[in-house]
Amino acid sequence: MSDLKRGLSEAVGTAFAAAGLPAELGRVTPSDRPDLADFQCNGALPAAKRAGRNPREVAAEVVAGLAGDTRLAGVEIAGPGFINLKLSDAALSQRAREIAADPRLGAAPVVAPRKILVDYGGPNVAKPMHVGHLRSSIIGESIKRIYRFRGDSVVGDAHFGDWGYQMGLLIGAVTDENPAVKGAVDALNAGTGEDAQAVAVFEQNVSLGDLDRLYPEAAARGKAEPEYRDRARKLTAELQARKPGHFLLWRHFAKVTKVALERDFHALGVDFDIWKGESDVDQLIAPMVEELDAKGLLVDDQGARIIRVTRQGDKRELPPLLVVSSEGSAMYGTTDLATIVDRKATFGPDQVLYVVDQRQADHFEIVFRAAQIAGYAAEGQLEHVGFGTMNGTDGKPFKTREGGVLKLNDMIVMTRDKARERLHEAGLGAELDPEAFEDTAHKVAVAALKFADLQNFRGTSYVFDLDRFSSFEGKTGPYLLYQAVRVKSILRRAADEGVEAGQITVSEPAERDLVLLLDAFDQALADAYDKKAPNFLAEHAYKLAQAFSKFYAACPIMTAEAPVRASRLALAQTTLRQLEQALELLGIEAPERM
Ligand code: ARG
Repeated sequence: MSDLKRGLSEAVGTAFAAAGLPAELGRVTPSDRPDLADFQCNGALPAAKRAGRNPREVAAEVVAGLAGDTRLAGVEIAGPGFINLKLSDAALSQRAREIAADPRLGAAPVVAPRKILVDYGGPNVAKPMHVGHLRSSIIGESIKRIYRFRGDSVVGDAHFGDWGYQMGLLIGAVTDENPAVKGAVDALNAGTGEDAQAVAVFEQNVSLGDLDRLYPEAAARGKAEPEYRDRARKLTAELQARKPGHFLLWRHFAKVTKVALERDFHALGVDFDIWKGESDVDQLIAPMVEELDAKGLLVDDQGARIIRVTRQGDKRELPPLLVVSSEGSAMYGTTDLATIVDRKATFGPDQVLYVVDQRQADHFEIVFRAAQIAGYAAEGQLEHVGFGTMNGTDGKPFKTREGGVLKLNDMIVMTRDKARERLHEAGLGAELDPEAFEDTAHKVAVAALKFADLQNFRGTSYVFDLDRFSSFEGKTGPYLLYQAVRVKSILRRAADEGVEAGQITVSEPAERDLVLLLDAFDQALADAYDKKAPNFLAEHAYKLAQAFSKFYAACPIMTAEAPVRASRLALAQTTLRQLEQALELLGIEAPERM
C-alpha cells in the first residue's frame, strides 16, 4: 500500500517514460493551489529544457498518456507547463478506506530496519538540569518513538552523568559538613568499616535536598579556590580508583538522584530503556587506553595523553580529545569514547543518535573523529542531533525568576498550575471529578510544554512563554488535545445512540481535504525520520486537527442520512486514531474528556 503521492508519481513517471522522457521527472507534490488541484507535477519544464522542446507541448504529451487513469478526475496544464492533478472522489474514498483499515494508519514501515541507539536526556548526579536537558528529553523521546514506530529496533539510553569532577566536589562537601558521614567513609577506606552500616549512615544523613544545596556552593568554591579544586580532583581520581569509602558514598549519591530523576522524567512521559551511566564504562577505560597506546594513537601533551583529530581542509582547528588528564583521570570525552566501545559490544547499533545541545557540537565532532581513528565506528555511524536553546524573554537560556536553573519538577508544577487556570478560563473540565480534572490538567501541561518545543525545527531557539504555550487557541498542544477530545465526545455520543461507522465515501470538499491530510501522514513521518526532526510530525498533527475542525463545521455527522452518517463517523474515527498516533509519537497523550 502506498500513499497517493507515491502512487501518482509512478503513474506520471510512466507517462513521462512513454513519451521518451526520464521517469523520475514524474514526481508529484501536493498542490501549491489546493483550490485548483490536489497534486502537481513540475517535471515537464526540466524535461523540455533537456530535450530542447516547448514545455507546454511536453506537458500535453504526458497528460495524453494519463488518459484512462480512473483515479484522476481532472488533469490540466497551467502556466508554463505545470501539470495539475485532481483526484476522483472514488480514488480518495478508496485511500480513506485503506487508511481506516490499516493499524499503522497509512504509514509505511522502513524497508530495511536497523538497530538504533538514541542517547538523550543526559542528566547528571547533583548538577541541576537545565533547559538543554529538558529539550533533549522531549526531542529525544520523540525521535526514539518515531524510529521505533517506523520499524527500527531502538534503545533509548539516558547516559547518566555520574563519573566526573562534580563527584569529587560532592564527596568533599558532604564529608566536610557531616562528621558521621566522614567517619563512615574513613572507616571504609581504612578497612575497618562495614558496608551495610556505612550505607545506613548515608541514607540517614544525605538526602537529595542536601546534594542540591551543597553542589552549587562547592562548584563555586572550586572555581574560586585552586586548593579546593585540587582536592576535588584528587577525590575524583580516588573515586575512579575505587577507594571503598568514596565509592559507596558515590553510589548513594547516584541512587538518590536517579530515583528522583526517573520520577520527574516519567511525569513528563519520558522513559529510558536503559539508564547506563558514565561510571558503567569505567572498567573499559584502562584496556581502551592500552589499546589506543598500542595502536600508537596517543600523544603525550604536558603530562596528559591526547588523540589529535584535525583533518586536512578543516576551516578551524579542533582541539584534541583529552583521553587521560595530567592527574590521571578520565574525562567527559574519555567516557564517551569508552561508551562507544561498550555499545558496540553490547548492542551493536547501526547508528547512534546523540540528542544533545548544539553547544556540544565540537565535543561530539572530536569524539566521533577519535572513534573513527581508533576503528570503533564508521563514518556517519555516530550522529550528533543538536538543538538550539529555550530562552527567557531576555534572549538568554531560560532561568527561573530567582536566576537559577529550572528544576524539571518545578517546571511541571508551574505548567500544571497554568493548565488548571487555562481550563477554568475556557470553561473546560467543569463536569470532571477532582481526580479526572487533575489528570486532564497534567496532560494539558505536558502537551503545552512538549508541543511548544517540538513544533519548531530543533535547531531553532525559542522563547519560553507559558501563557502562549498553554492557550487552547492557536498552534498549541492544548488546542490539539481539545480537538482530540472533541472527536472523542462525538464518537461517544454516536455510540450512545447506537450509530455505527461504515464504509467511507467522500464527496464534499472538506471531506476530500481531510482525506488528503490523512494521506500525508506517511510523508510527514518520513521527513521527521530522515531529518530527525519531530516538527514535521507536529505540523502534520496541527494541520490534521484543523482539517477535522473544518470538516466538522461543514459536514454534520449525526444529522446526516444513514450511509453518509456512517461514512463521516468512520472518517472521524480514523482521524482520531491518526491524531492520537501522531501525538503519541510526539510523546503527548490526550485525555478522555475535558
Ligand atoms: N551529561 C551531559 C551534560 O549534562 C550530557 C550527556 C550527553 N550525552 C553524551 N553521550 N555525552 O552535558
